This record gives sequence, C-alpha cells and structure tokens, in this order.
Amino acid sequence: MRLIVDDLLMLASADAGEVPIRRAPLYLEELVAECARAVRTLAAARDITVTVELPEEAPFVGDEALLHRLVLNLLDNAIKHSSAGASVALRLSVHGGGYRLEVADTGPGIPGELQPRIFERFVRADAARPYSASSTSGAGLGLSIARWIAEAHGGRLELLRSTAEGSAFVLTLPAEPSAAENRRTD
Ligand SMILES: Nc1ncnc2c1ncn2[C@@H]1O[C@H](COP(=O)(O)OP(=O)(O)OP(=O)(O)O)[C@@H](O)[C@H]1O
Ligand SMILES: [Mg+2]
Repeated sequence: MRLIVDDLLMLASADAGEVPIRRAPLYLEELVAECARAVRTLAAARDITVTVELPEEAPFVGDEALLHRLVLNLLDNAIKHSSAGASVALRLSVHGGGYRLEVADTGPGIPGELQPRIFERFVRADAARPYSASSTSGAGLGLSIARWIAEAHGGRLELLRSTAEGSAFVLTLPAEPSAAENRRTD
C-alpha cells in the first residue's frame, strides 16, 4: 500500500510538472546491467533467468534514479508474468543516434482489447485472470510511470508486441534531450 501511495504521489507531481529531472552523465549499459543484477535473485527464486545484451558503451545524460525505476518497472512486469524455466531478455542497442532498450518475456501476453490502454493508470489485465495474490497483484501504475519517465527524457515507451508467446516493450531514448525537455531540467 505504501508503494501504491508513493506511485500515486509521483504521478500527481508529474502531472503538476513538479517532479525534478536530475540529469547527469551516465552509462546506460551500466544502468541496465545494475537493474538486471538487482532482480536476478528474485527471478532465480522462481527459476527465471534474466539475460542481458549490451553495447560496449552507451553514454547518456539522464536522471539515474528515474531511469532505474523505468527499467525496474518493466522487469517487474516481465518477471511477474513469466513461468518457471522462462527467461526475460534485456537488449540495449544504439539506434538512430540514440538508444533502444527491449524488454521481452515469454509470458501469457496482454489481452488484445487491453493493449491500446495498457499505459493508462489503473489498467490491469490480471483482474480478468485467475487470481494469484502474491505474484501478480499491483495497482496498474507501473507502466504509466515508466512511460512518463521515458517522455520526460524526450523518449518513448511502447508495447512492441504481445501475444500468447510473450510480450516485448521497447524504450527509445534520443542521444540528446530535446531543447523542450532541457528547459524542464533543474
Ligand atoms: N510483461 C507483461 N506480460 C503480461 N502482462 C503484462 C506485462 N506487463 C504489463 N502487463 C499487464 O499490464 C497491466 C498494467 O501493468 P502495470 O505495470 O502498469 O501495473 P501492475 O504491474 O498491475 O501494477 P504496478 O506496476 O502498479 O505494481 C498489468 O496489470 C498486467 O496485466
Ligand atoms: Mg507493474
């Protein structure tokens, strides 16, 4: 419950333009590797492997804490919807002068009718699935927050595909934040 309140406060502040974006030079390949490491134990406990493909160097200027949160929200979803023995793949690549991060799982997918609304607040497909209290309960805020963070960095977060064979989300980040985004920087 505390985390849900925290997420709600964050979105309310984001709406009001009050979440400071603390940009600093960082390496995205390190950030992605750290996120993978952070969830690996949890994933291993459920016999889920987290694989990572990274470019040698991916320098970026962004808010490390917010970008962590974005990647962890996607990983949390991917792991929570995977079954034992499955693997979750993180692939970071240089793309069009910026970066592309794909987070792919082999879970059951998101029902087609919900896909267009999946980034909206409180939208959850799990309500329609057999209830599993421990692993799949959530408020339906993680993707809204993740998309807001992507956009605050001048990037985009999209659902690339979601079928019965799995889902893939893709984050794209520009090499240089746009002038409009720069004005929002503290
Ligand atoms: N990788 C995925 N595989 C299958 N379904 C997914 C996946 N990612 C998201 N979903 C569906 O989209 C819904 C919304 O995801 P979101 O992360 O916004 O909320 P949540 O995970 O339910 O809760 P929260 O992230 O706030 O704890 C989820 O409830 C789930 O039904
Ligand atoms: Mg989530």
